[in-house]
Amino acid sequence: MRTVTDPFKNASSTAVIGLGRTVPATDVPATGVPATHGPGDLMPDAIAPAADPSTTAERAYRVSGGQPLCGEITVAGAKNAAPKMIIAALLAPEPSVLENVPRIGEVELTLRICDALGVRWRWLDESSLEIDPSTVTGWRIPADVSPEHRSCMLFVAALLHRAGRAQIAAIGGDAIGARPIDFHLQALRQLGVDIERDGAITRFRGEVLRGAEIRLAYPSVGATEQVLVAAAGAMGRTVLRNAAIEPEIDSLVGLLRAMGARIERPSGRTWVIDGVASLHGARHWVIGDRLEAASYAAAAVATHGDLFVRGAEPEHLQSFLAVLRSAGGICEEDTAGIRFRASDRLLPATLETAPHPGFMTDWQPPLVVLLTQADGVSIVHETVYERRLGYARALGEMGASVDLRTECLGSAACRFRGRGCNHSAVISGPTPLVAGELEVPDLRAGFAYLLAALVADGESTLTQVGNIERGYQEVLVKIRTLGGQIEERVLEAPVAQQASA
Ligand code: EPU
Repeated sequence: MRTVTDPFKNASSTAVIGLGRTVPATDVPATGVPATHGPGDLMPDAIAPAADPSTTAERAYRVSGGQPLCGEITVAGAKNAAPKMIIAALLAPEPSVLENVPRIGEVELTLRICDALGVRWRWLDESSLEIDPSTVTGWRIPADVSPEHRSCMLFVAALLHRAGRAQIAAIGGDAIGARPIDFHLQALRQLGVDIERDGAITRFRGEVLRGAEIRLAYPSVGATEQVLVAAAGAMGRTVLRNAAIEPEIDSLVGLLRAMGARIERPSGRTWVIDGVASLHGARHWVIGDRLEAASYAAAAVATHGDLFVRGAEPEHLQSFLAVLRSAGGICEEDTAGIRFRASDRLLPATLETAPHPGFMTDWQPPLVVLLTQADGVSIVHETVYERRLGYARALGEMGASVDLRTECLGSAACRFRGRGCNHSAVISGPTPLVAGELEVPDLRAGFAYLLAALVADGESTLTQVGNIERGYQEVLVKIRTLGGQIEERVLEAPVAQQASA
C-alpha cells in the first residue's frame, strides 16, 4: 500500500525538467507577473459577469418558439480544441499565437488557470490569442476552477515539462457520467510520473518522462491528449494504442508538430510520439467547431428553416450528416460550408453514439429534439456517457414522448450493459412541444433545451444559461440573426419562486 506523504517537502531549489529546462522547484505566486491583459480582454459579450452571491438575480433566456431558423452563421473555433491548444502552448518557453480561438466560457476558464500559473496572454484581435508561457511560475491548478473544467487535466502534462510537477484538486466537467481520470493516471505512471492522492488533491511528480508502450482501455479523448502532450517532450518513443482520433486531436497534434514535436499516426487508433529535447513557439489555427455546426444544423431542420453554416467541414461531420439525411434533413455540401434544410416530412432515425469516426455523443441531444418532430419511432443508444440522456425528462414535460431504457438498444458493445443506467431512448413523434421552464444542466443539454424552446408553442424560460455560453460563442446573437425570438432577461428571483408567486 502506498503511503501518502507530501512529496515536495524536501524539494531542492531547482529541478531539471523535461524539454531540457530548469525552473525553480518552489512555487512562486503569480503576483508580480506583468500582466499583458486586463479585465476588458476577457470575453466581451459572450460571457456573463459572475453572479453576485448576495442577490438572487440570475440571467435567463426568454425564447418564443415557432419561427424557422433561416440565414447564415459562421462556426467559431472548436470548444474541444482551443483550451487544449492554449495548454499545449505552455510546452515552449516562448510565445505562441493561436488563431480562430472562440470567445466562450471554457476558454475563459483556461485563461484563468493560466493567470494563476503566471502565464501571460493577450488577445491580438477578435479571435487571435498570444500565449506567452516564458513566465510560468506555478504548478498548482487552482481548486476553484478545476471542478468546473474538464480540460484542466491537460495542464498536468504541460506542467510536468515546465515545472517537473503539478497538483490538481477535483476535476470537473458536465455531470453526464462518472468521468473518472483513471486512464490519465495509468498512462502518466507508465511515462514515469509519480502520482500521489491526498484526499481530493492529486500530486504529480516527474522531472524526466520516458517513452512507453501504452494501450488505453477505451479511446478516451482526454487521455489521448494527455499522452500526446506528455510524450512530446519525453525521452524516447511512446506508442499509444486504442487512442482517440477526433479531428480536435488532429488540430492539437498540428500545433504540437508546428512547435517541433514528432508525432505520427501510422494506422488506425495508434499514435507514435518521438520525444524531442525542446519545443518552440508556433502560430496555429484552431479547427472549426463541428459540434456547434451540428447543433445549428439540427436546429435548422427541426424548425423547418434554411441555414448555411459557413466553416462546417463535411469530412468532420460524416456520421452526423448520414443520420441527419436519414431523418429527412437536406444537406448540401459546398467548399465554404454546408446548407441545411428539411424535406417536407421528418423521418425517424436510429443512432448509436461512439468515439470518432462514429456518431459523436455531443451531437446527440439536439438531434433527439429534432427526432421528437419526426414521424415515427426513433431509437438512440448512448454508449459514451451513462447519464447523458438525463436531460430528456424535461423534454417529456414539454410534451415529447421520450422513453428512457436501461437496456442497450443497439448493436455496439456497450460498457453500460447491465448497469441499470438509462442510456437508451425510444422517441415517438411527431409531438407538438409546449413552452417550459428549463434549468440548463450541461452544455449540450442546454442547446437541446434552447432548440426545444424554439420549436415549442409559447414562451419558454431557460436558466443557468452560463452552461450554454461555456461552449457556444454569441449564441443569442446567432439565434436572433437567424430569426429566432430570444432575449436575455435578469430574473430577480429563481424561476420556481416566480412561477408560484
Ligand atoms: N473515461 C474513463 N476514464 C478516463 C477517461 C475517460 O473511464 O480516465 C471514460 C469517460 O467516463 C467516458 C469515456 O471514457 O465514459 C469517454 O471520455 P473521454 O475521455 O473521451 O472524454 P473527455 O476527454 O472527458 C471530451 C470532450 C467531451 C466529449 C468527449 C467525447 C472536452 C473538454 N470534452 O471529454 O465534450 O463528449 O471528449 O468526445 O474535450 C462537450 O463538448 O459537451 C463534451 C462533454
